[in-house]
Amino acid sequence: MIRLAVVGDPIAHSRSPEIHYAFAAQFGLAIDYQKIRPERFEESVAALIASGARGFNCTVPFKGAAFERCDTLSPVAQATGAVNTVVIEGDVLHGENTDGDGLLRDLMHNLKWRLADARILLIGAGGAARGALPSLLSARPSCLHLTNRTLSRASELVSTRPDAGSVLSAVAGSELSESYDLVINATSAGLREVAPDLPASIISSETRAYDMVYGSNVTAFNHWATRHGARECVDGLGMLAEQAALSFSHWTGQLPETRDVMVQLRQGLR
Ligand SMILES: NC(=O)c1ccc[n+]([C@@H]2O[C@H](COP(=O)([O-])OP(=O)(O)OC[C@H]3O[C@@H](n4cnc5c(N)ncnc54)[C@H](OP(=O)(O)O)[C@@H]3O)[C@@H](O)[C@H]2O)c1
Repeated sequence: MIRLAVVGDPIAHSRSPEIHYAFAAQFGLAIDYQKIRPERFEESVAALIASGARGFNCTVPFKGAAFERCDTLSPVAQATGAVNTVVIEGDVLHGENTDGDGLLRDLMHNLKWRLADARILLIGAGGAARGALPSLLSARPSCLHLTNRTLSRASELVSTRPDAGSVLSAVAGSELSESYDLVINATSAGLREVAPDLPASIISSETRAYDMVYGSNVTAFNHWATRHGARECVDGLGMLAEQAALSFSHWTGQLPETRDVMVQLRQGLR
């Protein structure tokens, strides 16, 4: 039995157990995947180690605490300052961050969207944008602009990647004028069913829109982008499945298929 968990607060809404049980079934693996809402993060981690757990996912608000707690970190976790996947090896904790590569797999592998040489606008400068940045840069866009309600946070994020050169820059919402090939909403505005306040000129009939938020209805951002003529709009359910698949592979060495899981998740939202 492979013991796994997801640690977060709130956690009741998490679809992670359902996703990982479906992945385990693909390989005939027996897993026990628990949801944990810690009183104290450190004590929950100690209990997981003592129980012989293979690892755990971390979600809001514990990605930073997991980063601090891990003994070793992958380069992406190091770059993002956040850990969403912990692998337990004896009493050593290894931290990974699969959010960015999960996003990339959904964009490039599932949706077959071309990112190389694309003009990309990333909206947001919180944990999700921070996690997406290294992966998006690795896809070699011609430009990656970051915009955020609080511009200084976008500028700060840009300053973490001096190696990106002129490809990467922070742009105030009021300064945005041209359209992009891909616009990614990495803000939490959609959780309150609003779209970020941005000029419609960022969208053209060639623009693809991706909202990291997902839900039973078309998200507020995708609704806005559709209204302004976007070519295609997709929500973040695929990212959810892909980041989970990458977590699963870190724990088991097996990379699951996500297609059926995405169908199952979508049906569960209805
Ligand atoms: N699909 C997936 O697998 C997946 C994975 C990770 C995250 N997500 C989603 O991504 C979203 C962001 O997560 P996060 O961890 O980055 O959150 P976070 O760290 O709290 O950051 C929130 C971001 O949203 C911006 N924001 C909030 N309300 C806004 C509004 N009304 N208008 C414009 N901008 C607004 C914030 O701007 P300020 O800096 O100005 O406050 C900040 O940039 C969440 O909705 C989360 O559910 C999805």
